[in-house]
Amino acid sequence: MTGKMWVILLLLLLVCFGFGKAGKNGSLYLFPQMPLFPAMPLPEHPITNSGVALGRFLFYDTLLSRDSSISCGSCHKQEYAFSDGGIRFSKGIDGKLQKRNTLPLFNLNWHTSFFWDGRAECVESQVFHPITDSSEMALTVSELVSRLRRSVFYRRKFREAFGGKEIDSELIGNAIGQFERTILSYRSKFDRAIKGSTMLSKQELEGFVLMNDMTKGDCLHCHTTDSDPIGSTFEFSNNGLDTFKYYEDYKDAGRGGVTGVMEERGMFKIPSVRNLAFTAPYMHDGRFRTLEEVLSFYSSGVSLCVGIDSKMGFAHTGGNHLSEKEQESIIAFLMAISDSSLVADAQFANPFR
Ligand code: HEC
Ligand code: HEC
Repeated sequence: MTGKMWVILLLLLLVCFGFGKAGKNGSLYLFPQMPLFPAMPLPEHPITNSGVALGRFLFYDTLLSRDSSISCGSCHKQEYAFSDGGIRFSKGIDGKLQKRNTLPLFNLNWHTSFFWDGRAECVESQVFHPITDSSEMALTVSELVSRLRRSVFYRRKFREAFGGKEIDSELIGNAIGQFERTILSYRSKFDRAIKGSTMLSKQELEGFVLMNDMTKGDCLHCHTTDSDPIGSTFEFSNNGLDTFKYYEDYKDAGRGGVTGVMEERGMFKIPSVRNLAFTAPYMHDGRFRTLEEVLSFYSSGVSLCVGIDSKMGFAHTGGNHLSEKEQESIIAFLMAISDSSLVADAQFANPFR
């Protein structure tokens, strides 16, 4: 494309995204080009530089917890792709242990629901779950609003982001959501390889092929890497971790706990296979410490339990029975779809430091 065409394209984009409307409250945040991803779904309100900057402060501010001891960033740490490094369950307020493994945060724009059981419907409303949960931050929304209204710093930051509107819960969710929506993972070795700027090793390529071969790894129906590079369909599924015969046996009901549907007990949101190099341990309860353990589960530990997803094609033989060498190739590929630019990118780091 010539320089002139780029300018025209850019102008068109600015018009499409309502640049004029956002003008008063700061310039629109310019999302990176992600041509190999499906079109990025975004909310109706604009994502602005000042909104993102405010959301970043809020994300890292311990003021959001009752005793000002923890922030979102205490459990969602950048160096672990915004999951909690190496531990099964994060500690919330008063050291209270969480019931599920802390999910990483990236590419949230493509998720269709939030949490392992999908109980939150959008990024903006999810925010109030941890803030008000008695084992996480244990703060009431009204106390949070009055704390922020009392703060000279935040009064200025909200004015920059939203003009004269009074600080309320909607703007708080909106701002934190804006920041979270900018946390994008698209610069792994795999991403560079599909753009043609680098090449996967023979082993990494073999791992990719195995994951997408229905007679081999058979991961593709749930963890996309071929049809799109997001790493998950984000549907709910039961991948056969437990040996239960009755739905009642699922102590953590997962999706069924939200919908009340018996057949959905034991179903969890399919996590992305991006960034696994940073997010151990694995599964909703963090039961597997390493990817070797995960691959050995899919190879020979799958249980034909009640409610298992019919897309677990090899369940009737206990797994896909990949050789050790094939499992190693898949792990090599999973390392190549881990994005070290994400964990090092200064724009997502704690702004208070
Ligand atoms: C005490 C640790 C802790 C704190 C503090 C915390 N989280 Fe979480 N977060 C978790 C855990 C654990 C989960 C998974 C819980 C579940 O699925 O039931 C989670 C899940 C999420 C998800 C869902 C991701 C997905 O893929 O569905 C988002 C988004 C999120 N947190 C954002 C936040 C934000 C924003 C804050 C601050 C307002 C925050 N978290 C504070 C532990 C924490
Ligand atoms: C039928 C759908 C399905 C198939 C097929 C499938 N998975 Fe999964 N995968 C899931 C679900 C659901 C979870 C979460 C389960 C839970 O925590 O209860 C999961 C979890 C994982 C995790 C843990 C991720 C994390 O962040 O904790 C990894 C790694 C993984 N799968 C890799 C694979 C690989 C590799 C294959 C192919 C060999 C595969 N999966 C096949 C549905 C599937």
